[in-house]
Amino acid sequence: MMATQSAGKVNDYGYRSFELGGFKFERDEYFAHITWPAGSHSMPVDLFLRAMIRDLAWSFFYGTVNFDSVFGTTNHYGNVDVFAGLYSDGYRKHNRHRVENFKSDDVKAIFEAILEDWTNERFDPFAAPQETGSAFGPKRGSNRAAITRKRLTARRMVGMKDDIPLRTDATGYTVNRQLADVNQDEPEVHAEPGFESEVHAFNFFGYVSRSDVTWNPSVCAAVKDALICATTEEYMLPVIHGNDRVEWFVQLSDQIEWDVSDRETGEMRARVVMKAGDVAAMPADIRHQGYSPKRSILLVWENNDPSLPELYAKGQLKSNPVDF
Ligand SMILES: [Fe+2]
Repeated sequence: MMATQSAGKVNDYGYRSFELGGFKFERDEYFAHITWPAGSHSMPVDLFLRAMIRDLAWSFFYGTVNFDSVFGTTNHYGNVDVFAGLYSDGYRKHNRHRVENFKSDDVKAIFEAILEDWTNERFDPFAAPQETGSAFGPKRGSNRAAITRKRLTARRMVGMKDDIPLRTDATGYTVNRQLADVNQDEPEVHAEPGFESEVHAFNFFGYVSRSDVTWNPSVCAAVKDALICATTEEYMLPVIHGNDRVEWFVQLSDQIEWDVSDRETGEMRARVVMKAGDVAAMPADIRHQGYSPKRSILLVWENNDPSLPELYAKGQLKSNPVDF
C-alpha cells in the first residue's frame, strides 16, 4: 500500500497533525491521539515520543515495537506494519483493530516529522525523566540536537582504527551522575608487531558509564551476526518489545525488573528480576518491558541473522534456546 502522508494545519496548541494511510495523529498539551476508521487511542505524549524516537533510532528494531498495549510497529526489514489493537484480544474480537503495511522509508519520514514537530525545547525523549525538561504544554520551540543523535554502531569494536571512538569528556560524553564510581582506567594493550589492528581492548564499563541516553543499545562489538550491545537503563523501557528472535541479557550493574508476556496476546508469562551478574535468555515469542529503579548497565547480545524470524515462525527453532 502506498503511504499517504500529509501534515495538517497547526492546532490551538501549536502542533501540526499528521496522516499515514488510514491513521491520523494529533497531539494536545498532554496526549498523543491516534485515530483510524474503526477506533481511536490516546497515550501520554511523553511516552509516545520516547517510544517513537527509539523506534526510529533502531530502524524499527527486531520484531515488534509496541508503544503501549495498543499502538506499534512490526518490522519486516524493508517494510513495516503499523498497527492499532492488533495484539490486543479485545480489539481483534470486535474487529476494531487496524494494520497497514508501508515501505520503511515512508513510515520513517512521517514519524520523523511528528517527532520534530511535537518535541518541545528542553525535552529529550532519550533522557531519563530526572535528566530532561517536560514534554507537556503548548508548543515551545524544538530540540533538534536531542532527536537527531545517531545510534552508535561499531563495525568491529569500539575504539579500533576506523571504527567508532571511545567516549570522552572532550567529545561531550561525561560520566553519568549515577555511575560516578565506575573506574575510568583504560587497559594497556601490547600487541606483537604486525598484529596492532587485530588485538584490542577497552574499558567497557567506562564506555557505557558515559552513555548520554537510556534504553538505546549501541553496538560495541560485532563478530559476523553476533552483536554485543550495551546500554544504560533508568526508569522504564518506553516500549514493550515483541521479540522475533532470542535475546540474551547480562545484567552488569544494579537491577532491572522485567514483565514478560505472550507476544501475541499480552498475557503475563513471567516476572524476571535481574540483579548484577544475572544472565537471561529472553525467548523469541514474548513481549517484555523493563523497569530500572536506578541507572543500570545492561549488555544485550543480539543475533542479526536475517533468516531467524522465519525459522522461529515455522517452528524450526525453539523459542527458548536453553532448557533448565
Ligand atoms: Fe526484546
